[in-house]
Amino acid sequence: MSSGMFRAATQGTRALRSAAAGPTIRAMLSSTTSRSTRAVLQRTLRPTLTASFHTTPLRFTSEAGSNPMKESPVITPEHITVGGKTYPSDKFTNVTPTILEKTTRQLHLIPKHPVAIIKDLIASGFPGFKHYDTFSPVVTTKENFDDLCFSDDHPGRAVTDTYYLNEKVMLRTHTSAHQLKVMTESDKILVTADVYRRDEIDASHYPVFHQMEGAQLFDAKTAVDVIRKEIAQSTSAASGSIHTTDTTLITPENPKQDCHDEAAMLATADHLKHSLNMMVRKLFSHEKDLQVRWIDAQFPFTSPSWEMEILYQGKWLEVLGCGVIRQDILNNAGKPDKIGWAFGLGLERLALVLFGIPDIRLFWSKDERFLRQFEPGTIQKFKPFSKYPACIKDISFWSNDQFHENNFCEIVRDVAGDIVEDVQLIDEFTHPKTNKRSMCYRINYRSMDRNVTNDEINVLQEKLRDEVVNRMKVELR
Ligand code: DAH
Repeated sequence: MSSGMFRAATQGTRALRSAAAGPTIRAMLSSTTSRSTRAVLQRTLRPTLTASFHTTPLRFTSEAGSNPMKESPVITPEHITVGGKTYPSDKFTNVTPTILEKTTRQLHLIPKHPVAIIKDLIASGFPGFKHYDTFSPVVTTKENFDDLCFSDDHPGRAVTDTYYLNEKVMLRTHTSAHQLKVMTESDKILVTADVYRRDEIDASHYPVFHQMEGAQLFDAKTAVDVIRKEIAQSTSAASGSIHTTDTTLITPENPKQDCHDEAAMLATADHLKHSLNMMVRKLFSHEKDLQVRWIDAQFPFTSPSWEMEILYQGKWLEVLGCGVIRQDILNNAGKPDKIGWAFGLGLERLALVLFGIPDIRLFWSKDERFLRQFEPGTIQKFKPFSKYPACIKDISFWSNDQFHENNFCEIVRDVAGDIVEDVQLIDEFTHPKTNKRSMCYRINYRSMDRNVTNDEINVLQEKLRDEVVNRMKVELR
């Protein structure tokens, strides 16, 4: 894999991260993928990263109060405590202190934060929807995968892609993990939350991001009439100039579910796309010549399924996935007489476009120069503060069968945190005689809020070299 191919394949698709994507996320989102063989899964399910446990409990500063998620996570070799609850660890455990610290941040609950501003703006376009935004990120594999019809060998379950507390308990990879539960409570729901995926490192990828899930259910018998009336009555919100293209078709690759009446399914799909087109119109009413398109997609929990993409800086950026909910899920929610749609959208992706925020790490900045630029209820363009110089270091090693890029990136994050702007595979070859695979990664260190010195980065790079050898058993060159 050349670095060029690697970049090309991973850019612009992580929207659903949400609406995230990249090969990793694609794999997670779609039910069919070249990686979805049992063999691959079994290999990836074996933990390849030796979790770095601390013999003494590791604590973060606590602002606990009444919100359990603000309590400091604690990791010991036997247990993990997060959100005030303790879970036993096992051979699947791969959460790290760096990641667990993020569970305390809850950016979507900070009123002046761009993620929260977008959350509120979108929610205001769905009046009457019950909005949940304080669910713990710790869920079961049943909630995150099984309840949503993910196959047992779905690559999204791999330890290389997902953070596990133990075999059955994980950090949610999407807000859909709460769908079943909330659908038992209401027919119109929104869920906003932080979601976690193991991934590579660059300006648009971060292992934590925020999603908003939406779903609406209708009585299957009356859906057609109710929906047609509602769409006819809805007035178009103010729109700058938004050009929306939809050439998707219902085909055997993206089919209607056998149990659905065709007219009811088509009405549900129209209502879904209409609601989301309105949402985009409202959010982007000040943008000039915004290009939006619908494309076919596949998710284990919807059929037919689609994604919405927005043209941003010359590239199509995936911002949401959606579809007609699988009837099995509605039946399990105790709603066999309903038909419904659901969507999941990536809040950072939308914020990047709306506020013009150039680097996804900025969302996590505690720098006042970032936060003071935003006001609840308004969208104004971000004014970048000065860009500090980068410090570039390469690391080369002989790789092994267990090597996975996400494990490597995890170590980089543990050692250097948000000082790393980008990690790229710049060279790779197989030695003709020994058959050993050599890899060279380039690490771009750049702080968002201060100058970093070469000496300081040398210390980090040395530490990284040691950790990579210890935890991945590779041989430095
Ligand atoms: N959960 C999906 C993801 O993260 C996004 C999604 C797609 C949510 C389709 C939905 C849906 O509710 O219907 O990748």
